[in-house]
Amino acid sequence: MDADHYFMKRALAQGQQARIHAPPNPWVGAVIVQQGKIVGEGFTQPVGQAHAEVMAIRQAGHLCEGSTLYVTLEPCSHFGRTPPCVDAVIQAKIAKVVIALEDPDPRVQGQGIRKLKEAGIQVLVGIEAQKAFEMLEPYLFHRKTGKPFCIAKAGISVDGRTAAPDNTSKWITNEKARQDAQRLRAESQAILVGTKTAHYDQPQLTVRSLAALPPKPPLRVVLDRTGALNLSSPLFDLALAPTLVVTSSMASQKAFDAWQSAGIECIIAPETEEGIDINALMETLGKRGILQILVEGGATLLGHLLKENLIQLLHLYIGPRILGDQGIPLFKHFAPHTLTEAPQLTLQNIQQFDECIHLCYRIQKEWT
Ligand SMILES: NC(=O)c1ccc[n+]([C@@H]2O[C@H](COP(=O)([O-])OP(=O)(O)OC[C@H]3O[C@@H](n4cnc5c(N)ncnc54)[C@H](OP(=O)(O)O)[C@@H]3O)[C@@H](O)[C@H]2O)c1
Repeated sequence: MDADHYFMKRALAQGQQARIHAPPNPWVGAVIVQQGKIVGEGFTQPVGQAHAEVMAIRQAGHLCEGSTLYVTLEPCSHFGRTPPCVDAVIQAKIAKVVIALEDPDPRVQGQGIRKLKEAGIQVLVGIEAQKAFEMLEPYLFHRKTGKPFCIAKAGISVDGRTAAPDNTSKWITNEKARQDAQRLRAESQAILVGTKTAHYDQPQLTVRSLAALPPKPPLRVVLDRTGALNLSSPLFDLALAPTLVVTSSMASQKAFDAWQSAGIECIIAPETEEGIDINALMETLGKRGILQILVEGGATLLGHLLKENLIQLLHLYIGPRILGDQGIPLFKHFAPHTLTEAPQLTLQNIQQFDECIHLCYRIQKEWT
C-alpha cells in the first residue's frame, strides 16, 4: 500500500469516530503528515465545534508548515456555524492536500478545492474514494437528493414473518441482535413507524445501552392520520425523546388538542391513496437536516416505502422461530406477480449473533 492510501485509511478511521455525534455535519477524518510521520489527527466535533481539519491542525501546531493533509471530504469553503476550513489550511501553510471525495453540498462543490489551488497548495482528489463514499453515503445521499438516506430494519422469523397473527412480536430475535440494532438507531437522526406498530408494540424508539450516544436522541416520527394512537404510548413520553406526529385533517380536534397540551409536535401532511405522502414527508425531514432515517415497521409502511423505491438498505435480524402463513409479512401491499418483477437485492453484510443472523441488503442500487 502506498503512503497516500495508508494515510487516507487512517483519516477514514478518524472520521468513523465522529459517525454518531457529527450529524447534521458529515463525519470527516483528517491526518497531517510531516516527513512521513503523523503529526496531527482529528475528526469532526459535535455541531458548532471544530471540523476534522481544524482538530488535526491544532494538534500538529507549527509542524503543519510544508506538511500534507489527508482529509476524507473536501474542506469547506463557506461560513457555516464555524469559519471555512480552507482558510485554516491556508493559514497553517500546509503544502499539499489529499482529498478522498469532493463535497456535493452546493455551498462547497469544488469551491474548497479551487480555493486551495488558488493559494498555491497542491491538491490530489480521489484517494480511497470508494471507501469514503461507503462511509459517508447517508450524508452524500442527503446532499444530492434532499431526502434522508432510508434504512429499513426488522426482526423476522426464519420464514420471513414479523409478528404472530395476534400481532405479538416480542421477541423474535435475541438480546444480542437487538443490541446490535441500537447502533442503527444511534446513527440515525429520525426513527419512523406506522401507527399500528406504535399501538401493538408500544416501542420507545430510544437509543439505549451504547457506549457512544448521539448528542440529541433521534426524532421519533409516527404516521397517524386519524389520531388513533393513545396518548399513553411511550412515543408520547417526551422525557424519553422528541416525537413528531405526522397526521391529516382526518384527525379529530380532540387529538390535536391532546397533542398540543402534551407539547407534541404534529404536522398535517399531504396524502396519497396509501396514506401520508411519504415522498413529501422524506423531503420535509430532509429539510430538517435528517441525514439518515431508520424505519422500524410495520409491514404496511415498509410495503409502501418499497413500492415508492424509498428504501436504500434493508437490515434483517432473523430469529429462530417459524410463524407460518398467518404471521404478519415483512412487506404488505407489495406483490410482484413474477420473479422478474421482484426486486433483486445485493447482500452487503452478514453477521451471526448466536442463534440469530443479521443480513444487510442493498435495495436501491443507483442514486448517484
Ligand atoms: N418484527 C418486527 O421487527 C416488527 C417491527 C414493527 C412492527 N411489527 C409488527 O407489525 C405489525 C404492525 O404492522 P402493520 O402493517 O399492521 O402497520 P404499520 O405499518 O405499523 O402501520 C400502518 C398504519 O400507519 C398509517 N399510515 C399512514 N400513512 C401511511 C403510509 N403512507 N403508509 C403506510 N402506513 C401509513 C396507517 O394508519 P392511519 O391511516 O390510521 O394513519 C396504516 O394503517 C404489528 O404486529 C407489529 O408487531 C413487527
